[in-house]
Amino acid sequence: MAWIPKPSATTEIERRDEPYLTQAMKDELRERYLPRYENTLAALLPALHMIQHEYHWIPPQAMEEVATFLELSPADVMDTATFYEEYALSPRGRHVVGVCRSIACEFCGQPEVTEAIKQTLGIDVGEVTDDDSVCLVELECIGSCGTAPVALFDEELHEQLTPERAAELARQLKSADSAPEASGREGLSPEVASNKA
Ligand code: FES
Repeated sequence: MAWIPKPSATTEIERRDEPYLTQAMKDELRERYLPRYENTLAALLPALHMIQHEYHWIPPQAMEEVATFLELSPADVMDTATFYEEYALSPRGRHVVGVCRSIACEFCGQPEVTEAIKQTLGIDVGEVTDDDSVCLVELECIGSCGTAPVALFDEELHEQLTPERAAELARQLKSADSAPEASGREGLSPEVASNKA
């Protein structure tokens, strides 16, 4: 098998003038996280979480900014960001539906649950709806095997899902996001809205 080299050293990344790592994020890292650890590398995970929480993915420019702030090499940041599937390296929707695809969930109906969500949202796994609202991803075991099949709807765990229930939750997430009056949580069901608190 031939090696296919990637031109990493000469890759151009998209940039914007405004930094992704805001002053507020730096302050929080400095005051809340850095004092807990012996070195700055340990604060890398929370820094990446902050970026992803704010922008729904981790742009390359943001990785550079985090590297500079934590005095790490960009390669260290890239290594970490690419290791954990939790981190999105391409733009995601404003909401993420993550279905566990590991063995307990798979045996208990995950394929049907995933299919129901795909049909409801009109997208495949790894895709985002046309309005950039909802992204569907598959996750490895999220530690709730006893209540399989499970999925995270915007990080809120839903257990013992049926295809019908999963479709309903996906529908609520999407319609709430697109409802004109739903600038906050008015259009959401109480259980999905509570996740946005
Ligand atoms: S296999 Fe799905 S939570 Fe463990």
